[in-house]
Amino acid sequence: MNNDTGTLSVLIANNPFLRKKTKIVEKVDLEKVKKLLPVMFEIMYKAGGIGLAAPQVGIGLRFFIIDLMKDNQSEKITIINPEIIEKSEELKSYKEGCLSFPNQYSEIVRPEKVKIKYINLEGQEQEMQTDGLLARCIQHETDHLDGILFVDHISSLKRNIIMRKIIKEQKRHH
Ligand code: NI
Repeated sequence: MNNDTGTLSVLIANNPFLRKKTKIVEKVDLEKVKKLLPVMFEIMYKAGGIGLAAPQVGIGLRFFIIDLMKDNQSEKITIINPEIIEKSEELKSYKEGCLSFPNQYSEIVRPEKVKIKYINLEGQEQEMQTDGLLARCIQHETDHLDGILFVDHISSLKRNIIMRKIIKEQKRHH
C-alpha cells in the first residue's frame, strides 16, 4: 500500500478476527500502542468514524480510540484495558453504526450511564463516569475488545439482513 496508514485497514463484519477476545495491554506494550495511535486516528477520521477499537484493524490488544468531534472540536481519547464497573439501570436506544459495518445502522439499547476503570498511555489507573454519546461509544468499543459486535444486540432476523447487505456490498467492490 502506498498510503501513510501503512498496512492497517478496517476489518469488515464477517472477518473472524473481530470475534477474538483481545489481550490485556501490559506496560511493555504501551510503546507499541503509542506508535499505533496516529495511524488508527487517521483511519478513523478518514472513514468518518467516532470510535475505533484495535481489533478492528487487526490488532489483538485491549484498547480503543474515540473522538466525538463535538461542535467540530477534536478531542482524542485513548482507553486502554477498560472495564465497565457500573452501569445505570436507565436504558437508552440510539442508532449505532460501526466502521466494520459500512453504511449499516441499527437502534441499540444500552445503559445510559457507565463508570469505567482503565489505564492511560502512561500506564496510570484512571476512572471515568460518563453518559450520553461518550458512554454509548465506550460500551460499543469495549464490546469490540471482547469480540462482541453491535449487531449482537439486535434480533437475529435484523442481524442477518445487515450481514447479507454487507456481503453483497463487498462482492460489488471486489
Ligand atoms: Ni464498531
